[in-house]
Amino acid sequence: MADPTPTSSSNAAAPPLPKLPKLLPGQKALVTGANSGIGKAVVLAMAEAGADVAVNYVVGDDPAQEVVAAAQAFGVKAKAYKADVSDEGQVKAMYAAMVADFGTIDVLVANAGLQRDAAIDDMTLAQWNTVIQVNLTGQFLCAREAIREFKRRGINPAVSRSAGKIICMSSVHQQIPWAGHVNYASSKGGILMLMQSLAQECAPHRIRINSIAPGAIRTPINTAAWDTPAAYDKLMGLVPYGRIGEPDDIGHVAVWLASDHSDYVVGATLFVDGGMTLYPGFATNG
Ligand code: BGC
Repeated sequence: MADPTPTSSSNAAAPPLPKLPKLLPGQKALVTGANSGIGKAVVLAMAEAGADVAVNYVVGDDPAQEVVAAAQAFGVKAKAYKADVSDEGQVKAMYAAMVADFGTIDVLVANAGLQRDAAIDDMTLAQWNTVIQVNLTGQFLCAREAIREFKRRGINPAVSRSAGKIICMSSVHQQIPWAGHVNYASSKGGILMLMQSLAQECAPHRIRINSIAPGAIRTPINTAAWDTPAAYDKLMGLVPYGRIGEPDDIGHVAVWLASDHSDYVVGATLFVDGGMTLYPGFATNG
């Protein structure tokens, strides 16, 4: 039998995904960490699907305005909101401004996240705290404000079957331990229980909370893992599907999870990882 493994020496971008249908007409979405990477792709996919979008960011006014303009090109409303998701006052102010501008919120994509990598004996408390505060506490603060608004408004059947949706951006590292990144892996492990516990608590209010767990996606957070042929080949040893993920791979899944097409999906983690969590080392071992 011919070896089915395609060559992994090319890190050329995968062709764009098919056009998205209008799955989110009339919905108002807030995406955090949305001026680059996965967050930007989620904004553009939601806009293509017909949602109005609030673009949260903390550093980088110009890139945020570019994302807003690209979203508006799909004919939807879009606006940028500068706020640090780990700061309670800034999060509350962002929600107040967004609800004033958009009327309400139907979808939160809690995406903002960062890495501060170090071996454990070199890891500072500041590196630990920054990652936990942004990646985990930031999701708590943003989810709490969204849930308060979902409960205040209730279900609007003209917009959605549910009273609101939250998508937590997790990682394969909610499951795969990651040496040299204990702060990041701990934050993502925390997101698993944050998401599931919130999903259990809020489901009776018809609020759906789920996670996406991306694998290696071509974004600025992990450039070193894919920007040279040698790094890319090494990475491909971890990805059975034989290509790096593109940001729109995550954006399209987020649209589906935010839409009523996934109305009975509650408390789930969707791994979007090209099979990274399939323990590829065991394909030829064990
Ligand atoms: C990390 C990336 C990494 C990927 C797979 C993501 O959550 O942010 O840096 O490449 O997981 O290991």
